[in-house]
Amino acid sequence: MGLFSSSTKNVPEVANVPRHIAIIMDGNGRWAKKRLLPRIAGHRRGVETVRSTIKSCIGFGVEYLTLFAFSSENWRRPPEEVSLLMQLFVRALEHEVAKLHENGVRFRVIGDLTRFDKRLQELIAHGEEITRDNTRLTLTVAANYGGRWDLLQAAHRLLAAHPELATSFQEEDLTPYLSTAYAPEPDLFIRTGGEQRISNFLLWQLAYAELYFTDTLWPDFDEAALRHALASYQRRERRFGRTSDQLRENA
Ligand code: IPE
Ligand code: IPE
Ligand code: MG
Repeated sequence: MGLFSSSTKNVPEVANVPRHIAIIMDGNGRWAKKRLLPRIAGHRRGVETVRSTIKSCIGFGVEYLTLFAFSSENWRRPPEEVSLLMQLFVRALEHEVAKLHENGVRFRVIGDLTRFDKRLQELIAHGEEITRDNTRLTLTVAANYGGRWDLLQAAHRLLAAHPELATSFQEEDLTPYLSTAYAPEPDLFIRTGGEQRISNFLLWQLAYAELYFTDTLWPDFDEAALRHALASYQRRERRFGRTSDQLRENA
């Protein structure tokens, strides 16, 4: 089962523990508001949840964890919040990359990084570089990421490399150009914070992910909460278009 293979073309192998979990980390602002704190206090606590979630995923044997940290639409927030989020991102990179490396985590960032300032871009490049050969967990942070951006950049890069495919390219031509081409498609999608929407996250890659929504706010999403999500995942029947009877026959 190669990484580029597509759930709409082949039925992937399904394991008890999802290989790839993708999370929309939502609810930081509301967590802070409930405590009469500024929104950034919620984002700070959110970074702690990121740390504990990475640890839990390593413990559970998850291979890929993809976290939505900043969407291409989040620039619409008040400039002070955007700027504080950028500072938080810089500080997290300065403090955490060495620890990620010690723990065998491969760090990747997906999204249009050209809009970030130089310092942030350098920290990202450095983090990716020093952790590139780690194999315990691949942590992907989606920053200035949008699912539509991803599809467009993939199409642009494919057609630049293969103009002859302009009217004939297929799924398997495009997928190597998606920003997540190094990872299998997510098995489990989690959104905290109570909203039930995709918010322009991994539009293509989530084709056959199991969706899990929880009202728990991201700063409160602890290992027990993750365990709940995994238990829900384990109760699902992933049919990929087939019938239940077919699954039982093949078992
Ligand atoms: C998610 O929390 C973090 C980011 C989008 C950066 P929010 O900031 O969206 O928190 P709520 O939805 O306002 O509670
Ligand atoms: C989605 O959260 C993006 C991230 C978690 C980074 P938002 O809170 O910005 O999503 P919407 O706009 O409410 O859908
Ligand atoms: Mg939100």
